[in-house]
Amino acid sequence: MDVRAVGVFDSGVGGLTVLHECLVTLPHEDFVYLGDHARLPYGPRPLAEVRGFAHEIGAFLEAQDVKLIVVACNTATSAALPQLQEELAVPVVGVITPEARAAVQATRTRRVGLLATQGTVDGGRYHDLVRTLDAGVELIAIPCPRLVPLIESDAPYEETEEAVREYAEPLKEAGVDTVILGCTHYPLIRPVFQRVFGRDVTLVLSAEETAREVSDTLARKRIENDTARTGEYRFLTTGDPAAFREMGRRFLQLPIGEVEHVTLAQLGAAA
Ligand code: DGL
Repeated sequence: MDVRAVGVFDSGVGGLTVLHECLVTLPHEDFVYLGDHARLPYGPRPLAEVRGFAHEIGAFLEAQDVKLIVVACNTATSAALPQLQEELAVPVVGVITPEARAAVQATRTRRVGLLATQGTVDGGRYHDLVRTLDAGVELIAIPCPRLVPLIESDAPYEETEEAVREYAEPLKEAGVDTVILGCTHYPLIRPVFQRVFGRDVTLVLSAEETAREVSDTLARKRIENDTARTGEYRFLTTGDPAAFREMGRRFLQLPIGEVEHVTLAQLGAAA
């Protein structure tokens, strides 16, 4: 048994979609969630810069004595997963491998769409993983730079739907039967994607698959907490704690109590 918490991070609230599935699967575990709102969005930044952010946050979470780290951000996973796994003593789980596997299993036409940030598309990790699993699958990747800022803002809903329709169009034209929502923010507006793509397209989301991977990793390494207990959660942000609390409540009906503010200097000092 291991009483230490699991660390989870994202550029903002998107990783809460992964945390939610972890809470459903592992209600007895403690979690520390960090949203790097001060530097959101990660998507348009050079991958090397995102790698630097992930390095700081990984070191900071490890100093909080976590037993496993979930990189609940596709852009940070694209930019930094192997590096984090090399640097840190604790196991590190990303969000891309579980989605690539699920998409390859789901597609019948072997034409798969990917909607993700510019950084994730440029990183090419989905392409490599999909081709490793089935070299006959064609992946059509569309960067969606407007979506994360729209989701994290109070933008009118119509504006968000219009952007989704625009990004979906080339995938519909290409006749894909499976679409990877390759950013942890996108499930927060899942109904919009479902309406835009209709019933014939399978949407692949990372949260459930990632939660399963976290659960299996804890079990196999025998570092689970006592299953009879109820877990506790800590929320940290480099941005505005009140805005974070409000977004968590709005999107996930997740009662986020106290949110602690962490400065970028604190993150830098941990690295
Ligand atoms: N949730 C992050 C991801 O999965 C959003 C990236 C961003 O901040 O642009 O890629």
